[in-house]
Amino acid sequence: MGLPFTHLTSTKQLSRSDTDAILRVAQDMEGILKKGGCDLLRGKILGSLFYEPSTRTRLSFESAMQRLGGDIVTADGIQFSSLYKGESIEDTIVVASQYCDIIAMRHPEVGSADRAAAVSLVPFINAGDGPGQHPTQALLDLFTIQKECGKIDGLKVAMVGDLRFGRTVHSLSFLLGLYDKITLVFVSPKELTMPEKVITFCKEKGIAFSEERALDAALTADVLYMTRIQEERFTDHSEYERLKSVYTLKAAHLKGKRTVIMHPLPRVTEIATDVDALPNAAYFRQVRNGVPVRMALLAMLLGKL
Ligand code: CP
Repeated sequence: MGLPFTHLTSTKQLSRSDTDAILRVAQDMEGILKKGGCDLLRGKILGSLFYEPSTRTRLSFESAMQRLGGDIVTADGIQFSSLYKGESIEDTIVVASQYCDIIAMRHPEVGSADRAAAVSLVPFINAGDGPGQHPTQALLDLFTIQKECGKIDGLKVAMVGDLRFGRTVHSLSFLLGLYDKITLVFVSPKELTMPEKVITFCKEKGIAFSEERALDAALTADVLYMTRIQEERFTDHSEYERLKSVYTLKAAHLKGKRTVIMHPLPRVTEIATDVDALPNAAYFRQVRNGVPVRMALLAMLLGKL
């Protein structure tokens, strides 16, 4: 089965057959999880390097490795690592490669994942590089869409919020572009629109898309993917304060609608808690899907499947 690459830094390196294979293996991993795990990666070690805050990505990578019988070594927070003393990303990764068989790294700088992958002696996975890419989140998003909607081809997917700094929507747009007859609706304030790299990609691929300002434009989609306004990426805090509550999805918006509601989380105020009880609120099921998808990636990149 395998994958035709050693490192995963961007969803742009994935083909449709790659994503289909990963989703198939993730489905098998759900069966393994139901049985409590397996020993496929016994003796293998994941280096879990998180130099920017994380709850879901870190815990689900570490859970995935342990469910497959492997072990983990961890580093979290730049201030607690030798990056703080001035060690380069490159030296850090060469060193970490001596201690583990595969690395997942989150780092605040765009491009840090490509720099790391260029020198890594073991398979390397980008767990988020600043406002750049978050490929494993996009794969679990795709897995969630397939499970919730029963298909991916032909869907209308609306992305709402901070499309400028939100790396998950960049990665997900590139992946959805692999599927047939997709329509994308990008809803954001004018200060936080989708970057040119995604817009150019949609135009080159002939993907139907529109850019909107009002939340209403997203309410007729099959999937509504809300995102947080990314406070940590703003250089002007007053700008964040002005934009932070621009969209709040409430249960009242969704009366009589079957739109699947997703969010990479964490949420702040962009989804009211009264949405949580709706059957189409999929964001906590989405979180759960992170484990089988990351199990699939770990096993495939380590050449076990
Ligand atoms: N979705 C996501 O990346 O969450 P964390 O920042 O908690 O890992």
